[in-house]
Amino acid sequence: MRIDKMLSECTGESRSDIKKLIKQGRVCVNGVPVRSPDTKIDEKRDNVTLDGRQVEYKPFIYIMLNKPEGYVSATEDSREPTVMELMPDEYKKRGIFPAGRLDKYTTGLMILTNDGQFAHEALSPRSHVEKTYVVTLRDTLTADDVAAFHEGIYIEGGYKTKSAVLEITGSHNARVTLREGRYHQIKQMFGARGNRVLTLKRISFGGLLLPDDLKEGESRELTKEELALVFVKND
Ligand code: URA
Repeated sequence: MRIDKMLSECTGESRSDIKKLIKQGRVCVNGVPVRSPDTKIDEKRDNVTLDGRQVEYKPFIYIMLNKPEGYVSATEDSREPTVMELMPDEYKKRGIFPAGRLDKYTTGLMILTNDGQFAHEALSPRSHVEKTYVVTLRDTLTADDVAAFHEGIYIEGGYKTKSAVLEITGSHNARVTLREGRYHQIKQMFGARGNRVLTLKRISFGGLLLPDDLKEGESRELTKEELALVFVKND
């Protein structure tokens, strides 16, 4: 791979800016300064440094965010603040986007990445990646609600939801686990039951749990182990 391509992918800087850094002698491969942006390297083996700091070959990044209320899950929006505004510049310039949506007033665990294949697999109902939410409701929950969630509920467009798990944790509190993500799905499901969602927070994405120490609005890169947990079943 060309050194300028590798550095551009891994830092988010443009190829022309990387070219300048190379010309200034600030990039070394195995300790030797490179002078030409078309220098070929083995991106997995060669030791590449920029200003003396090692640059690992990591073309994809995976960020977890504890989404606060009031932000839409989009890269751009002409009217509303987006979750991208909560991202540090170093992540933004890597071309990340939200892997799935949470509504404007939903909080909790969200993953942002520049890996389209990962996002597709994590969101496809065929992958069976479960997402769990904690919900507070306007009206009291009943055992019939649990049965209805299990059976599937007709929502917008005549679509019958796949079997979902509703666990009642208090008269107006519950945990819901879904394997799909239709527009406003949980709100629509409770709406169809004559109830109303007051607050909604996602607490897990596959086997990955929202960490207690990640405060609302905070984000950080997932470790390799955390990333692998996304595709691990919760039970
Ligand atoms: N279901 C909803 O209704 N909203 C969300 O943000 C996620 C699931």
